[in-house]
Amino acid sequence: MVQVAVLGYGTVGSGVVKVIDTNHDSILEKTGIDLNVKYILDLRDFPGDPNQDKIVHDFEVIAGDPEVDIVVEVMGGTKPAFSFSKRALEAGKSVCTSNKELVARHGTELLQTAKEHHASYLFEASCGGGIPIIRPLRTSLCADVIDEITGILNGTTNYILSKMIDEGLEFDDVLKDAQQKGYAERNPEADVEGYDACRKIAILSSLAYGKRVDFTDIYTEGITKITSLDILYARKMNRTIKLLAYSKMQDGCVTAMVAPYLVGKEDPLYSVNGVFNAIFVHGNMLGDAMFYGQGAGKEATASAVVADVIEAAAFLGSGAVSSWKPEKQALTDVSGTEKRFFVRVKGEVSEAAEMEKVFGPVETVQAGIEGEYGFVTACMTEKQYEDCAAQVQGILGMIRMRDK
Ligand code: HSE
Repeated sequence: MVQVAVLGYGTVGSGVVKVIDTNHDSILEKTGIDLNVKYILDLRDFPGDPNQDKIVHDFEVIAGDPEVDIVVEVMGGTKPAFSFSKRALEAGKSVCTSNKELVARHGTELLQTAKEHHASYLFEASCGGGIPIIRPLRTSLCADVIDEITGILNGTTNYILSKMIDEGLEFDDVLKDAQQKGYAERNPEADVEGYDACRKIAILSSLAYGKRVDFTDIYTEGITKITSLDILYARKMNRTIKLLAYSKMQDGCVTAMVAPYLVGKEDPLYSVNGVFNAIFVHGNMLGDAMFYGQGAGKEATASAVVADVIEAAAFLGSGAVSSWKPEKQALTDVSGTEKRFFVRVKGEVSEAAEMEKVFGPVETVQAGIEGEYGFVTACMTEKQYEDCAAQVQGILGMIRMRDK
C-alpha cells in the first residue's frame, strides 16, 4: 500500500481525497498501485466529515512518519508550502502539487532537492488544471524540439472575455458576476492582471526549453483595459479577444509574453471559450498540436494531481525524471518582436492619412462609434509601434494582432 498525506483540505485537497476514494479500485486494477490517504493536514477540524479521523494539524506528524511515501501539497501560496515541500523531499518523500506560484518561484530548487533524495517533484495540475500538458512535455514530446507554446492558460479571464464578447458587457460588470458565481477570486488581481498566466507559461517554457525561465522576466499585460468598444471592433474584423501567454524559441533565443490579442476565426484558439483552457504547441517534428480542456475546477485539477501521485508511486526509491537546468534562460527583449497592431484613435476615418504619415500604410476599421475609428498597422516591432504612437495624439487603445 502506498501511503499519501494531503496538505490542505480545501477545494483541490478534498478533490484529491475524492478521486483516490472513488477511483481506488480502478487505479489498482490499471496500475497495480494501492493508494491510501493516511493524513490530511489542515488548520481546521471537519466534524462529521468521513475523513475527520485523518485530519492532523501538525506537519511534523507527516514528516516524521516513515510510512508516508507521497505528500500532496495543495495549500497554495509559498508559505509554508515551500518549507513543507522541501522537508518532505529531504525526507525522501515525493511531492505532487497544483501550486503554480510555488513551482514558478521555487520549482528549480525543489526539483533539485527531489533529485538529490531520489524522490519525485511533480506538478501536472499547476498548468491547465486537468489538461495533460506537463507530462506530454516531459515524456510524450521529448523526442521533439519544441519551438512554440501559446496558451489560453487562465480560465477566469477567458470566462470574462467570452462573456464580454457574447453579451457586449463591460469588464467590471462581468467581473462582479464572475465573482458571484465563484469563477473569480474576491481579489482577482493575479488572474485579471495576467500574473497567473505568466507563472504558467514560465513553468511550461522551462520544461519545453530545458532551462529556468524566470516569470518575473516575462512582459505581462492583463485584460483590465479591454472595453465593450474594443469588442465592437473585434467583431468587425471577424476576430475575438483572448488573453494569450506565449513563448517562442528561435535561433536559441526565447521570447515570452502575456497580453490580450485579437485572434482570427481560422486560429484554433478562437473557439476556446468560457473557463476552458487550451495550449497550442509546435515542435520541429511534431508540427502543431493542441491540448484542450478544463483548466480549473475541483475534480479536473484533482485528477491531474492523482495522476502525478500514481507516477510518483511507480518511481518510489528512484524518482521520476522531471527537471530543467538551474541556469536562467535569457529572454529576448519584447521590444524587438514583430506583429501587427490594432489601434483605436479619436477623430474621423477621413483623417487616417495623418496616421499613415507616421505609421506607414494602415487598414482602417470602423465600428460605428462616434468620434473615433480604428486602424491596423503593417507588421512592425513593439519599439517601432511605441515610437510611432508617441508621435500622434488621441490614441485610445491598442491590442496586438495574432497572425498565424
Ligand atoms: N485562477 C486560475 C484560472 C485557476 O482562472 O485559471 C486555475 O489555475
